[in-house]
Amino acid sequence: MKTIAFYDTKPYDKIYFDKHKKEYDLEFKYFENKLNADTAMMARGCDGVCAFVNDDLNGETIETLYENGIEVIAMRCSGYNNVDFSKAFGKIHVLRVPAYSPYAVAEHAMAMLLTLNRKTHRAYIRTRDFNFSLNGLVGFDLHGKTAGIIGTGKIGQIFIDICRGFGLRVIAYDPYPAKDKGIDYVDLETLCREADIISLHCPLTDSTKHIIRQETLDLMKDGVYIINTSRGKLIDSEALLHAIKSERVGGAALDVYEEETEYFFEDYSEEIMPDDVLSRLISMPNVLVTSHQAFLTKEALENIALTTLNNLKDYYAGQPLVNEVCYHCQKNGSCKKDHKERCF
Ligand code: NAI
Repeated sequence: MKTIAFYDTKPYDKIYFDKHKKEYDLEFKYFENKLNADTAMMARGCDGVCAFVNDDLNGETIETLYENGIEVIAMRCSGYNNVDFSKAFGKIHVLRVPAYSPYAVAEHAMAMLLTLNRKTHRAYIRTRDFNFSLNGLVGFDLHGKTAGIIGTGKIGQIFIDICRGFGLRVIAYDPYPAKDKGIDYVDLETLCREADIISLHCPLTDSTKHIIRQETLDLMKDGVYIINTSRGKLIDSEALLHAIKSERVGGAALDVYEEETEYFFEDYSEEIMPDDVLSRLISMPNVLVTSHQAFLTKEALENIALTTLNNLKDYYAGQPLVNEVCYHCQKNGSCKKDHKERCF
């Protein structure tokens, strides 16, 4: 029986993996620690590793895992910007869950927008204190406003459908436009200039890092709302904070944060928050932060567990790895997976 070391495990992960454990003939060793160069040693004696969004799979981590006999890393998430593929290539196969519930993320993005705009989070706290004043709770109609969507893949397209349901006009930017979806594509500059609400649904890559920065913020309408449920580093947080302080940005809904790795998923309520930018953002009345929870629905957790376990089953059965991500494929644009082979 193969043993998989699970990093950054929380009770809600365990429930869904334990539920299906027997069917897959796998043993799990759960660690609460995040995976990084220091904790990689803990996987010694295991056959594979299961990691998550805030684990740090840099070159050193990969090397230590490899030296300790790890052959496969099953990411239980879709994003893989935290993995050094150049180091993993030829040594450790990296698998992921490309889609588990795009609805979960798109619905959370809209939930955040509605909360931030109509200030239900503040109203909830007020009415619990029998404060029924409406001062400071004025929102705006979404109907007739323009939503600018950056990234029109699985999640972006569902978010577009949700926006259309609210009567929003939708424009989008994506260097690889979706065909036959009736999406009104514009360039990034036009999107920034025309949108009342901008929502990010693209992956974090070298070209998308800080796609929202001083330069793009300067193009935006006064009072623009920005939603980020993708990856924190898509936004230059200091530039955003500056734009909020100068009242150029009307609201920011952030499910992810540039420097979230150390803090998100953990309880810091008894500590002094060392990150001044995060602290200042959270203190703003027009900023709503959630802790990378957009994926957190029962359906998504079930799909994450099943796809991860199927990925591992295929790996140990010597099958082609449909959900493998590799350096070679990314670099050359051609993929052995298309020919039903493994990446190496
Ligand atoms: P996807 O791969 O289906 O779509 C991504 C889209 O972004 C593609 O259409 C691609 O062409 C586009 N894109 C690539 N480079 C771009 C650029 N420079 N500018 C604009 N668009 C660009 O991915 P999916 O499933 O829709 O997920 C999107 C992102 O959502 C993921 O990369 C991940 O970072 C994030 N995510 C966040 C979760 C959360 O819990 N907060 C959960 C799952 C995903």
